[in-house]
Amino acid sequence: MRYKKYFRKTSLKQKGDGEFFLEEIKKKNPKIFLEVGVFHGVTARNICELLTKIHDNDFKYIGLDLFEKSDENKSEIIPNTNFSNPFKQIYFKYIKRQDPYSIDAVKDLLKKFKDNIHLIKGNSNIVLKKIDMSKVDYVFLDGGHDYNTVKNDLERCSEVIDNNGTILCDDYNLSYAPGVKKAIDEFVKDNSYNCEILRNNRFAKIEKK
Ligand SMILES: C[S@@+](CC[C@H](N)C(=O)[O-])C[C@H]1O[C@@H](n2cnc3c(N)ncnc32)[C@H](O)[C@@H]1O
Repeated sequence: MRYKKYFRKTSLKQKGDGEFFLEEIKKKNPKIFLEVGVFHGVTARNICELLTKIHDNDFKYIGLDLFEKSDENKSEIIPNTNFSNPFKQIYFKYIKRQDPYSIDAVKDLLKKFKDNIHLIKGNSNIVLKKIDMSKVDYVFLDGGHDYNTVKNDLERCSEVIDNNGTILCDDYNLSYAPGVKKAIDEFVKDNSYNCEILRNNRFAKIEKK
């Protein structure tokens, strides 16, 4: 399945990364999907399109993001939300009249799946505690890149692995965010999970042994 960009920004921008990602999800046919770090919602939309193909209307997508820069969040890396392409700037400013990095813009991008989605604005260090993980069967972890945040996010989602689900982490080996790798390696070792490193060190797929 082709990964579409919907005129917005995404982490999975390099050729083939999005398609690789969708193939990985397809292998597990998840029904309740959690994405930590939604950003502009491009991956969210691609996931919803894929899950509709697989399950028709019988799936749920939960997406969590800060959806704002603030002093409280300054330890987290938030990708540059501005476009270098002036047409995209004009499109969002004057035509859509939206900030693509806002929960309302993401809701709008996902409106055809409104009965299947649950978007949450907040910090994963606080919000993940409140999410019932018992039914979640796939997590795409692509939120905060700070060591403590990744460690917290993994620990909060460990029930998913224990229930035979998957956590797929993005940016496993980023030179400017070494805390991601450190947190993943520790989490895998401490829990004796299986970890597969995929796509030239980009993704870490964590599952039960
Ligand atoms: C790399 S982007 C996510 C890209 C998106 N998954 C995609 O595929 O296009 C990382 C996102 O994580 C969010 N983020 C960073 N720290 C966070 C935290 N502690 N809790 C929730 N979201 C966070 C940022 O706001 C940003 O939108």
